[in-house]
Amino acid sequence: MNNKDSLLIETLKPAAIFALKNSYAPYSHFHVAAAVLGASGRVYTGVNVENASYPAGICAERNAIFHAVAEGEKEIEAILITGCDEEGKQAYCPPCGVCRQVMREFADPKKLKVIVLSEEGEKIYTLEDLLPDSFGPEKLQV
Ligand code: THU
Repeated sequence: MNNKDSLLIETLKPAAIFALKNSYAPYSHFHVAAAVLGASGRVYTGVNVENASYPAGICAERNAIFHAVAEGEKEIEAILITGCDEEGKQAYCPPCGVCRQVMREFADPKKLKVIVLSEEGEKIYTLEDLLPDSFGPEKLQV
């Protein structure tokens, strides 16, 4: 791991772990939190929020990204994701397909770092690794 990646983890990991306690997951008991680094240098967090009407729930990653956008960010540089079970035991949570597509809207897939915490440590991807040959906003520009 290079210095830039270590710095990213140092910045985003405590924010995501702090947010994890606010995950609202009474149905799956699978708690997730994400921390996003915006192009401005600011950090935004999000947690999964479930609902009695199951499809109305939302993932942590999308909540974190939408939080960043609501605060004025147009581009994100990195996202770190962590999950845990009801006992607080680390759970590996690679981002779902819908969240990968939402990341695509606000980042260059080759540049966006997606960091996923696991029991073995941090896995670091680019969005391009996770969503190759993707459909993005530029495809709609005429
Ligand atoms: N979940 C996330 O928050 N992010 C993902 O990328 C995958 C799944 C949440 C949604 C739901 O609240 C719980 O994990 C179980 O699917």
